[in-house]
Amino acid sequence: MRKEIFEQPTALYNTVHPRVVKGLPDFTHDGITPGFFKDVTRIQVVACGTASYAGLIGKNIIEKLARIPVEVDIASEFRYRDPILDPTQLVVVISQSGETADTLAALRLAKKQGIKTLAIVNVAGSTIAREADIVLYTYAGPEIAVASTKAYSVQVAMMYLLGFRIAADKGAPMDWCCRQLPKLLNAVSYLPHVLAMEPEFFRYAEGLKNAEHLFYLGRGLDYSLAMEGSLKLKEISYIHCEAYAAGELKHGTISLITDGTPVIALATQRKTLGKMISNVKEVKARGAHVLLITLEGLEVDPECYDEIIRLPAVEDEYVPLLLVVTLQLIALGAANARGCDVDKPRNLAKSVTVE
Ligand code: AGP
Repeated sequence: MRKEIFEQPTALYNTVHPRVVKGLPDFTHDGITPGFFKDVTRIQVVACGTASYAGLIGKNIIEKLARIPVEVDIASEFRYRDPILDPTQLVVVISQSGETADTLAALRLAKKQGIKTLAIVNVAGSTIAREADIVLYTYAGPEIAVASTKAYSVQVAMMYLLGFRIAADKGAPMDWCCRQLPKLLNAVSYLPHVLAMEPEFFRYAEGLKNAEHLFYLGRGLDYSLAMEGSLKLKEISYIHCEAYAAGELKHGTISLITDGTPVIALATQRKTLGKMISNVKEVKARGAHVLLITLEGLEVDPECYDEIIRLPAVEDEYVPLLLVVTLQLIALGAANARGCDVDKPRNLAKSVTVE
């Protein structure tokens, strides 16, 4: 797993660079010509687990950049809820393995209703890749560890590329479109720096050795990352963990915070920083032990945390690529500290080919 975490800069390079032509994402080699998305009115993303969390980042990014609605569904729910689909929408399935049973069933359901389908898949020739109308391969290379790491990052990168392309197809000004990609590449260039912060992440994770419960908090993109960070931690370290939208805490969950409860607060989004910090103060006042993860240069009240990690200051939309590495390494550090087999966590299979 650690090896795969450290392969993320290469995986991202391999996935993004072949698709950049004159500063814009170009999917011509994938069978998508410019203008393809012009008449798409909305997007339905369907996936499982980590892939669905990559979809949540996509919702945030594509809605913001391209201003079309994006829904994200867990495949096992989507397929049984008689979803309302129409021919002007695009169904996007995301799957590292391309073999996940529920995601495949969702793809077949959409196709049966005559809806155009696009699959984001890492394994060449997999069933989902073969059956989807269009395939966008991610080039993460083989992912062997059960916990998905580099596959998530390249799925997220694909969400940005799709967002830029859809915006361009829908008539966004060319100079605006050309300004987006460098922001993504700039964030990717900081990845080696974040990977080198491993000892800092492990130091914190060591303190989770005897933890039974933990809360991840965030708002907006940080909330989507909180879900991914929480899944990773549960999956390999067996610490019970909940991801919460920070604004929801006072509607019930804050009653679980007692003296010493570990809380990881993600506070990287400038727009909601003030709100987030006041939520963090609420848990701190109830005795939580808070690790605050924020960006270099953002002003935060030192009273609201016990420990702090600062990541390179990139634009809000591109923080997920750096933040996820941090959360992966915290999960890995905690699992190591607890003596868990990180590559083969109990009860789990790499590819879930049954319902
Ligand atoms: C994540 O660490 C998991 N192993 C799991 O949630 C996984 O992402 C999910 O089963 C989906 O798999 P897929 O991408 O191969 O479809």
